[in-house]
Amino acid sequence: MERINIAILGLGTVGSGVVKGFEKHRSKMENTIGKEIAISRILVQNLHKKRNVSIPIDLLTTSIEDIFAQPDLSIVIEAMGGLAPTYDYVKRAIEHGCHVITANKALIANYGSELTQLAHDKGVHFLFEASVGAAIPVIHSLQHFLCVNDVKKIYGIINGTTNYILTNMLEQENSFENILSEAQDLGYAETDPTADVDGYDALYKLAILSKLCFDITPDLSLIPRQGIRDVTLEELKLAKQLGYSLKLIATAENVNQQVSLRVSPMLIPTDHPLANVNGVLNAVSVESDLAGELTFFGSGAGEFPTGSAVLGDLFYLLRNINSIPQTTVRSLPCEPKYSEQSSLTRLIFLRVPEKEATVQFTKLLQVLKKKKVTILEATQQAASEGFAAIGIKVQSLHADTVEEIQLHTNCPLSIRTLLVSQEEPVLAAV
Ligand SMILES: NC(=O)c1ccc[n+]([C@@H]2O[C@H](COP(=O)([O-])OP(=O)(O)OC[C@H]3O[C@@H](n4cnc5c(N)ncnc54)[C@H](OP(=O)(O)O)[C@@H]3O)[C@@H](O)[C@H]2O)c1
Repeated sequence: MERINIAILGLGTVGSGVVKGFEKHRSKMENTIGKEIAISRILVQNLHKKRNVSIPIDLLTTSIEDIFAQPDLSIVIEAMGGLAPTYDYVKRAIEHGCHVITANKALIANYGSELTQLAHDKGVHFLFEASVGAAIPVIHSLQHFLCVNDVKKIYGIINGTTNYILTNMLEQENSFENILSEAQDLGYAETDPTADVDGYDALYKLAILSKLCFDITPDLSLIPRQGIRDVTLEELKLAKQLGYSLKLIATAENVNQQVSLRVSPMLIPTDHPLANVNGVLNAVSVESDLAGELTFFGSGAGEFPTGSAVLGDLFYLLRNINSIPQTTVRSLPCEPKYSEQSSLTRLIFLRVPEKEATVQFTKLLQVLKKKKVTILEATQQAASEGFAAIGIKVQSLHADTVEEIQLHTNCPLSIRTLLVSQEEPVLAAV
């Protein structure tokens, strides 16, 4: 029987999930394609490391030359992570005539267009379903099932670590620092949490989704990005009291072929599907002209959820190995737009002693009116434990106005963007 040889680069969380899932489902794949499929070599850094997957030791190597020296190597699965030396290895694999599957969001966000083009030129497949949302089948859906649609907006919770932290700060009534440390102990956050808590991981995934939805390759350094380090427990509780969840949201929206991109903590009304995506779970919503609004929801990380996406790509590839890979072309050319819009809808919210509430509320409204800020909605909530909650939903808020508001209040206030479409009409001026 003809044999298909696969090499895996990396045997950590993802690589182990791929090997275990492959062994479990191998015969199904072999029976479907009528060929033997074998993992013929695995690249690692340390040959003597204790592994949580049983693998013959002679399958492991620390030399990339051993990988490419194999006769009849057809497929390379990259599960190493990082950019160097990974980019060189992946490029070399494609040039070698191998189909490549990767889970590496940093690689795709930085070199996805170049590698996709190279793969196209070489007539090999380059697949990366696991790079966004792990088990959630969003990439394949955008490339195939939604490819005829014009996408208006894509947004979601695409970083499990930050979602775990925000959810547990509120549930356990604890600080950012303490819940981050708990997430590190549980293996949900890295020792250096920068990529997650400062929004870089979500930024990479947003860039990948934007390429698929709008055929743009945004400059990562120009996309407005804000992480969750400054979110406080008090702010989360106050937002909840006013009817919102605060989540780290990545969003890309097309308005007149200009795609506004952004990663930041955003307020979501508690009846919105994303408001109840908690813990390490991820969710991605897509708004498009024919399909309407779709929300994908599930496990965005972990050995088996990520292994599922990689193996889904593998099975797809095995069934289409002789077809010429096609790139999806979107109908109207779009451009990325990086500037922060003052037109975003924001909520100014604060907690004030009950006896000062009416005075503070009136003062704030006066400042906003004087500065010609569009007020969409203003609420003063009944007091609890001697404090009242004030929430004022506004548009066209400029930095100088923020400074003036702060001068006129003696309580710390929060200003966060609301997750609404930029074309959503003004509801009611107060
Ligand atoms: N973890 C997840 O849930 C998840 C989800 C979606 C996507 N991803 C992506 O998947 C990729 C892998 O993540 P992971 O969590 O599996 O990482 P990991 O647990 O740190 O594993 C990395 C593996 O790559 C090997 N490796 C690293 N650098 C190498 C080098 N220079 N030469 C040879 N081998 C090298 C390591 O070898 P040793 O074992 O010998 O040290 C290890 O086996 C990343 O791009 C990540 O963003 C991860």
